[in-house]
Order: sequence, then structure tokens, then C-alpha cells
Amino acid sequence: MNAVINVKDVLLKKYSEKFRHDPEIVSYAPGRVEILGNHTDYNEGYVLSAAINFGTYFAISARADGEAHLTAGDIMQDVVFDPVRPEPSKEHMWANYVKGVLAGLVAESTPSHGFDAMFLGNLPLGSGLSSSAALEVSSGLAFAKLYGIQVVKLELARIGQKAEHEFAGVKTGLLDQVSSLYGKKDCLVWSDFRTYEFKPVEISPDICFLMCNTNVRHALVDGAYNERRESCEQAAKFFSTVLKKPVAALRDVTWEDWLEYHDKMDELTARRSAHPIGEDERVLSGIEMLRNNDLAGFGRLMFESHESSRVNFENSCPELDTLVAGAQGVPGVLGARLSGGGFGGSAVVMTTKRDVDAVSTSLRNIYANKYGARCDTRIITCSDGAHVL
Ligand code: GLA
Repeated sequence: MNAVINVKDVLLKKYSEKFRHDPEIVSYAPGRVEILGNHTDYNEGYVLSAAINFGTYFAISARADGEAHLTAGDIMQDVVFDPVRPEPSKEHMWANYVKGVLAGLVAESTPSHGFDAMFLGNLPLGSGLSSSAALEVSSGLAFAKLYGIQVVKLELARIGQKAEHEFAGVKTGLLDQVSSLYGKKDCLVWSDFRTYEFKPVEISPDICFLMCNTNVRHALVDGAYNERRESCEQAAKFFSTVLKKPVAALRDVTWEDWLEYHDKMDELTARRSAHPIGEDERVLSGIEMLRNNDLAGFGRLMFESHESSRVNFENSCPELDTLVAGAQGVPGVLGARLSGGGFGGSAVVMTTKRDVDAVSTSLRNIYANKYGARCDTRIITCSDGAHVL
């Protein structure tokens, strides 16, 4: 918690030094951790995730002229652009998320003035904690307040997603923005990406998550994410031709359907589709287990989820596999898996508050012994969602 408070203070100081006045509006959006349900969001499926105790602050004030001045508070890099026509740029990729959100928000109106804005957070980039969604959501809340635009949570999540698609070139689902907006303290968020219902699911207060950052940058933009999404769409098309029920997305395909028909598809598409189909079933079983306080059973589902990522979806990497396999032998660990897009980033480990420090030391040692490199660990608590301060 302290870490988050300090970030805000640092941002306010940097902001007033740079712009010579205090910001009118400050917003905050947390990152997210994905607990079960990997690559299911764009397949209209289920996810269990949480907003976390790390995030991004966004500070803004109106400017009398028509210019938009935006500063990345960590590197103190500035961009100046026209807020009426925000356009993506290859030069300052970080600014594209903010510009994309602004473009989505002001699509129907013309901003009457510019702004001075700066943001700062404590989510390491590329670590799988959704620093980009935290930036989209925090900037979206701040812009909506500054320009007096009414926007409901789901709409703002969609604007953030559109920024990812059109300004950053990644065809992500809605999970990251939704988790950041709908997070609730001491709860997981159960998302249904067909009905767009987002419900809090209480989790035992003894439970604690540990994020282990491999420091391997995931390369979603390189097309691997988009390529996985295409395979899922191709598989859904196949199932719609053989199943005697409507199939709009892999959400409509059960594990039994997969078992019956997988050998009629090409081997790779079959394997790819096994992952979201299995994940949907694991999310539903996981919710039952949480209701019955079967935490060991829930943890086993996390290990199964990782195995499916490793073998079926091939969105893991050796560093994540080392952490998850290593976690299996560490006393006090209930479950572990990769979290988010994959191809690097972080593994999430489920443990108890009592064991978390010992688990963290063991995993850091396992990683250092194998790679001679650091794996950063952070204790994650399930936190409230984004808001204007
Ligand atoms: C990334 C995307 C999400 C989701 C996850 C995988 O975080 O942004 O939309 O698809 O990967 O579950």
C-alpha cells in the first residue's frame, strides 16, 4: 500500500515542477492479475482475475490553449499533440495508449481546450500486470472528468480495448480493463465475456498471491497474441460446422465436444482450441471450489492451467515453466501458473499469508540457481478498482 501512496506523492511533485501548477484532477487505476481463465476473454468465456495493489496515477489540468501536453513521469519524456485529432506515433509508443483513449472518448465531441498531463505508476512494463490497461483506464477517467463526458465502466473498458487494437496494434480482449475497473478488495472478479456480467467472488483472507516476474519481456506486439486469437476463431468456425448447436465462439464448445471432434481438425488448431475450452471449465470448477473453501483443489486447477498453456497454447516460456515447476515442490504453495498474455512476464503463485515470505525466498533461489538472474517477487492483494481521487 505504501508503495502506491509514494508514487502519487512523487507524481504530484514532478507535475508541479514541470507545469508550474498543481493538477486539477488525479485518477488511479490498478494493474491486474489473472488467476484462472487464460485467453478466454476474446472467446466469450470466463475469467477469474483481480485488481492489484500496484497501479498508475494520472494527473491532469486544463490548458487555455488547444495543445495537449503529456509527460511520462518515469522517463520525463514529453509529447505535444492536437487533442482534437490524436494519432498514433511510432516514436513514442507509450503515448499511443493515452491518445487512443482520448480519441475514443472525444469521438462524438470536440475538446474545447488542451491539457497538461503526467502519469506515473509502479507496474513494471511487460511484466504481465497490465500496465497498459492501467494507463488507459486512469487516463480515461481523468479525461472524462476534465471534459465532462459521461462514460460507464464497460464503455470505458471498450475504449481502452479499442486503443490497444487501433493505436497499439494488439487484438486483446477486455480482461485487463475490466479487472482494473471492477476490482474489489479481498475478492476475485468473475467475468463472463458473453453476458458482460462482472461479479466479485470472495476469497479466504488467509490466501495471498505472489507475482514472480521473470523479467523476460513478452512480445505480444510481435503477433503471437494475434496469431493465437486467429487459431481460436478458426477452431470456432470448424466446430460451428460439425456441432448440432449454434457456435459463435469457443465458449459454446464443451470439453466433450472437443474430445469427439478434435482429430477432425488440423493438429495445431485442435491443440490451440483445447486451451480456452479447458480454461472455461476450470474457471467454473474453481468458483465451486472457492465456495467450498477447497483451496488445494483450486490450486491444482492453476497448475493444470499452466500445463495447458505450456503444451496446448504454447504461450509459456522456459523461465515461466521453471518457476511453475519449481513452485510445485515448495512447501506452502497451493498453485501456480502464468498470468496474462504469456510469452514471458510473470507467474502467479497462490499461497497463504503465513507462508508467503518463505515461498518468495525459495522461488527467487530456484530462479537464480537456474538462470543466474533475478526474478522479482511482489505480494499481491486483491484491491478496489479504478477511481478519480
Ligand atoms: C492479455 C490480454 C487480455 C487477455 C490475456 C490472456 O492480458 O490483454 O485481453 O486475453 O492476455 O488471458
